Amino acid sequence: MNILIIGSGGREYSIAKAIKKEDNSHNIYFNPGNGATETLGENIAQTSYDDLALWAKTNNIGLTIVGPEQPLSEGIVDIFEKQNLTIFGPSKKAAQLEGSKAFMKNFLKRHEIPTAKYIETTNKTDAYEFIDIVSTNKIVVKADGLCAGKGVIITNSKKEAKQTVEDMLLGNSFGKAGNKVVVEEFLDGFELSVFVICDEKDYVILPACQDHKAVGDGDTGPNTGGMGAYCPTPLATDEIYKKIETNIIKPTIKGAVKDGLPFSGVLFIGVMVVDDEPIVLEYNVRFGDPECETILPLFSSSVFELFYKTATKQLSDYKLKMKNHHCVSVVMASKNYPYKKDKPVEIIIDDIHDDEIKQNSHISYAGVTKIEDKLFATGGRVLLCIGQGKTINQARDMAYRLCGQVHFSGKKLRTDIAYQAIKDSR
Ligand code: AMP
Ligand code: GLY
Repeated sequence: MNILIIGSGGREYSIAKAIKKEDNSHNIYFNPGNGATETLGENIAQTSYDDLALWAKTNNIGLTIVGPEQPLSEGIVDIFEKQNLTIFGPSKKAAQLEGSKAFMKNFLKRHEIPTAKYIETTNKTDAYEFIDIVSTNKIVVKADGLCAGKGVIITNSKKEAKQTVEDMLLGNSFGKAGNKVVVEEFLDGFELSVFVICDEKDYVILPACQDHKAVGDGDTGPNTGGMGAYCPTPLATDEIYKKIETNIIKPTIKGAVKDGLPFSGVLFIGVMVVDDEPIVLEYNVRFGDPECETILPLFSSSVFELFYKTATKQLSDYKLKMKNHHCVSVVMASKNYPYKKDKPVEIIIDDIHDDEIKQNSHISYAGVTKIEDKLFATGGRVLLCIGQGKTINQARDMAYRLCGQVHFSGKKLRTDIAYQAIKDSR
């Protein structure tokens, strides 16, 4: 089949890699893709969604998979479906669950799904009033609109929270995205990334992942898109999983139908577990990155079929099967990530002679550009080294051994990915 993948990150690379591994006869196209996706298919450079839909029709595209949130929020699915094209992802209406934090919080409240106490407002006085009565000292201030994962500030005092609200509302910190803010109580627990594949009525839950958002070891420094992940996590016990399904997933899917925004695609639920109770931090309407790269290698049922059956509403036929393995991914980022962009630098990867590393690890490419047959690091998160193993320790060892074979000037990586699980397994 001809398949179009929208996006340019490691997530999109890993989706293509998983599909090609199952059946190399698929032809994959990327829009826009990155400097390494051309080893898996062809990059195309259409700009408007209307042009892209036309291109997809002309080129007999049988399935389009949308990676990032922005095209979803901008209605790519609606445009493709109008042209009778098969596409994996939610409608523009359903994508509001991620596009606006205020919309999401009101959805959670309306459907009685557990979430942190909050206020949503454009008004400084209302926000200050909430800050004065909230019981935690730490308070979280969020810009309402999309800010590429950076619009959330965790403050350590009521005074700091008020200053942060003021800066956001004045447009100083996140421009228009901060014209409305969500202020909420701080939840102290551990986080899980839960992915639910839905075709509006049926759903499949993938094993939970843990992502490492902070840039530095020991969860220090500012939040990033994610510096590494591991899957499955022993922290997600069966009991917690059951609660997530009953208290969060079922009411979310039902609530979306009731509100006239039935969900199709992958719903990414950011969950904070506090005293064994799962609480929703946020919804995203797409796969997490680096979580996607960390879950897909664990599939033993077909990844292609999961996407295709969801997009064609046949998910009830799909039986999810995972390998009895663990996977760890370590992001290698450029020197000044997440503060500023760096100059392109060449990436050198050693020839790998060790069979163990060859068989149990691979690279997923993200912020890379090809210049005259050489690969350059050009983005914040450059690539991921992904390891698999029978235990989480083995998977982590494979990922880090592969990292040791990859070189570029200023390369930055966390050295403690999966520390929560390793700690528990010792
Ligand atoms: P969000 O984009 O809303 O998921 O927030 C980004 C990150 O900020 C989350 O992954 C958490 O690590 C942290 N965070 C957000 N809201 C809260 C909260 N209410 N309590 C504690 N941490 C939070
Ligand atoms: N890794 C978290 C995200 O993709 O938002």
